[in-house]
Amino acid sequence: LTSNAEYRATVEAEFSQITPENEMKWESLAPTRDSFKWTQADVLVSFAEENGMTVHGHTLVWHSQLPSWVTTLSTDEVEGAMNEHIDAVVSRYRGRIRSWDVVNEALADTGALRVSPFSAALGEEFIDKAFAAARSADPDAILFYNDYGIEHLGPKSDALFALVKRLLERGVPIQGVGFQMHIASTGNPSASSFRDNLARFAALGLHTSITEMDVRIGKSTADTKTALSNQAERYYEIIRVCRLQPKCGTITFWGVDDGHSWLDLPSMEGVFGKGPHQGLLFDTHFDPKPAYDRARDALD
Ligand code: G3I
Repeated sequence: LTSNAEYRATVEAEFSQITPENEMKWESLAPTRDSFKWTQADVLVSFAEENGMTVHGHTLVWHSQLPSWVTTLSTDEVEGAMNEHIDAVVSRYRGRIRSWDVVNEALADTGALRVSPFSAALGEEFIDKAFAAARSADPDAILFYNDYGIEHLGPKSDALFALVKRLLERGVPIQGVGFQMHIASTGNPSASSFRDNLARFAALGLHTSITEMDVRIGKSTADTKTALSNQAERYYEIIRVCRLQPKCGTITFWGVDDGHSWLDLPSMEGVFGKGPHQGLLFDTHFDPKPAYDRARDALD
C-alpha cells in the first residue's frame, strides 16, 4: 500500500472497506512484552479515513503469529495478557475500526476446540473473555468470530454453530461470524450448502460476512482462459449467495492482485501445490480479470 502506486490506486478506486492482512496481528503489534509498534496499523487506518473507507480489524486472539513472549507465558498469566492486549488495541482504534475479528480459528479441522495458549489456560471460556474485553474497550465495534472450513454444512460448521449458540446463551457479545472462503474453483462449499449454512447463522441474529475470499486455480487441468472463466463463475455463485442473504453485509478479498497473495508464499507450496494460483480479482498488472466482472455482476 505504501510502496506500490498501482496497488494503492486500485484499492482507492475499487474498495469501500479494508482489512490488514498482517499488520494488526499480535506479533506485529507487540513483538516484545512492554511496547507496541503501531506505525503500520496506524498508516492503514489513516489511509482508510482519508478515503472514506471503513476498517475491519484482524485479529485480536489467534493461535498463530503470536510473539514468542506470549507462547512462553504460564497458564495463569495468559488471561491477563490477553485482556491487556485486547484492551490496548481496541481502545487505540475505538470509533475508527468498524468491526473486529475478536477470535480467529479457535476450532480445529475436526470441530474440537483447538489447542492454543488460550484454550490451554482457560478452556472454551477464553472466547467469552475475549469478546467481553473487546466490548468493554469499544461499545460500538461489531464483534466477529472468524474461521476457515466453516463455509459448508459439515462437522466443523456444526461444531461452530453449537459453539456460537452456547456463547449467545451465556450472553457473550458476539455479533457476527466471518467465513474466510479460501477456496478453489471446484469443491467445497457448493453454493447451496453455503446458502443454507449462512441462513442458520443469520437466523441466530448474527452478521455473516465473507472475510478472506480467494479462489485458486492452481491444480486446474484446464487451459488458463478456461480456468479463469471457471474461477469467475465460482466468484459469482459464492458472492451471489451473500448478496441474497440480508445478514451478509461485507465481502473481503484476501488481497488485491495476483502478484501479492499468500497463496504463492513458498511455505504454502506443500499445501496447495505449485502456483501461481491466481486467486484474486486483479492480475499481476492490476488489470481486472473475468472474476472481477462476475463479482460485480453478483452484487447487482
Ligand atoms: O515479511 C517476511 C519477509 O521478510 C520474508 O522474506 C518472507 C519469506 O517467506 O516472509 C515474510 O513474512 C511472511 C508474511 O506472511 C508476509 O508475507 C511470513 O513468512 C508468512 O508466514 C506470513 O503469512 C501470513 C499467514 O497468514 C500467516 O499465518 C500471510 O501473509 C497471511 O495472508 C495469512 O493470513 C491468514 C489470516 O490471517 C487468517 N486466515 C488464514 C489466512 C491465510 O493463511
